This record gives sequence, structure tokens and C-alpha cells, in this order.
Amino acid sequence: MILTSLAFVVGQFWLVFRHLKNRRRPAMPTREIVRIDAIPVGGSRVFEYPEPRAFRILVRLDQSTFVAYAQQCTHLACPVIPDPAAGVLHCPCHHGLFDLRTGQPLAGPPRRALQRVTLKIEDGHVFATGVEGG
Ligand code: FES
Repeated sequence: MILTSLAFVVGQFWLVFRHLKNRRRPAMPTREIVRIDAIPVGGSRVFEYPEPRAFRILVRLDQSTFVAYAQQCTHLACPVIPDPAAGVLHCPCHHGLFDLRTGQPLAGPPRRALQRVTLKIEDGHVFATGVEGG
């Protein structure tokens, strides 16, 4: 009984700590990735965001839908490769698969979703506005 209560109290402190930590996270910059007409449907573009060497991959799913994720697989960080025709991102290292629309793992060793880059489209350009997950 005492151990259960202690675990509950520790869990509550952990939740408060995480909440406070996330509140202090500075806002991510809004940064242009590419002109819309520079990527055909099914095409992709690797970019760095928000800092150099934080590699991301942008994929154009249709005329008006783009998605972007961390390029590093959540298993052992190999770069993932988009396969828009199959609707997946493929990790060649151990044959991990992620859903292209959600970033959720579908098959292979990865158990966590890819970190997602939030996007906005404005004046014919795609912009990165933040990072979610991970
Ligand atoms: S590094 Fe991607 S599946 Fe292992």
C-alpha cells in the first residue's frame, strides 16, 4: 500500500516536471523549406530544421498535402526513404516501415513514431513551423 502511494506521488511529480519543462521550450522558428512548384506529387526534399544537421524529409502526397518527419529511423537512426506509391517510409537497415501519412511504425523493429515537423503553406511556399513527438 505504501509503495503504491509512493509510486503515485512520484508519478505525479514526474508529470508536473514534464509539463513545466515543455512550457519552457522556446518557440521553434518558422523557416521556408521549398517552393511548392519545386516538388512534384510523390517527390521529396531533405532539409535541416530547426538547427543544422537535424535532418528532416518533406514529402508531397498530393496537390495540396505535404508531410515532414525526422529522417532518422526511431530504431537505430538510419535515414528513412519515402515510398509514396506504397504509402510508407522505408528504413533499409532492418526493414522498418512507417506510415507516410502519420509517421507511425508499421513493421520491423521500430516501436516509436517518427518525429513530425509541423508545416504551413503560404504564398506558394512550404514552411516548417515546429517539431512534434520524439
Ligand atoms: S535502424 Fe531503422 S529499422 Fe533499424
